[in-house]
Amino acid sequence: MRLFRPVSVTLVAAVLLVACDADGPITSPSAPDQSRHSTLASEDPGGPSEAEPDRSTETHPDEDTEERPVSEASADPNSIHVLVNKRNPLDPLDYAPSDLVTPEVALHGPQEAMQLRAEPAEALEELFAAADQEGHSLSMISGYRSYDYQVQVYDQHVAANGHEAADRISARPGHSEHQTGLAVDIDTPNAAETTLNQAFGDTPEGQWVAENSHEFGFIIRYPQGAEEITGFSYEPWHLRYVGRETARDVVERDLTLEQYWDQPPAPDYLDSEGG
Ligand code: DAL
Ligand code: ZN
Repeated sequence: MRLFRPVSVTLVAAVLLVACDADGPITSPSAPDQSRHSTLASEDPGGPSEAEPDRSTETHPDEDTEERPVSEASADPNSIHVLVNKRNPLDPLDYAPSDLVTPEVALHGPQEAMQLRAEPAEALEELFAAADQEGHSLSMISGYRSYDYQVQVYDQHVAANGHEAADRISARPGHSEHQTGLAVDIDTPNAAETTLNQAFGDTPEGQWVAENSHEFGFIIRYPQGAEEITGFSYEPWHLRYVGRETARDVVERDLTLEQYWDQPPAPDYLDSEGG
């Protein structure tokens, strides 16, 4: 895991110049405007896209093609590129997606948390089918969690371990990727003792997921050794959907989402008090 930002200020400026229907960046050294865009991000729009911008006005196309990420962080909760972490809560805090569906996969969790947005649900079905073909059995244990449900989850962690420990493994309500409908916790029924355990990453299923999930648009959002950037300890079971192009690029560059989108680390909440 590289712990530096790969995108120069020059390149960020170039991205802003060619951005057309892309989501608005949350923060950028050259773009303090934090306006929120309502356009739902798509990785394959017709015409000039995030991946294939019109380069006719650029002066340094070679530099741009080498380092330019295929997406930017968005503040729009409906975007598949929304950045949610301890420094970037959902807006509104009680956001709920409107296209939730139950993926047709093995479900091994509470019924209230067995949905995802339509696009990641389909991608998860494809991911699990591909894993199955290679002999790896996977199940979904937690997908979309409403604000109210996350209150319960977080409070349980606080009750069991205290605020400090809870904040390393459970997001506060309004700060969880699960509330976007784009995140899913997965498991293997073959080794129940590794459920929601870092040892899941060492199972054949966990390793297969780490090697292949980006091909279906998912990344392991909280990698090992990146807690000071992501705010959460290693979670090999927590997949975040960002779309295939972005997922491939993130994995190829071996970065956290914060680094990839050139956003500040989010090690803690700005209001550092628990609760
Ligand atoms: N476990 C992750 C950080 C969440 O609660 O969203
Ligand atoms: Zn999770």
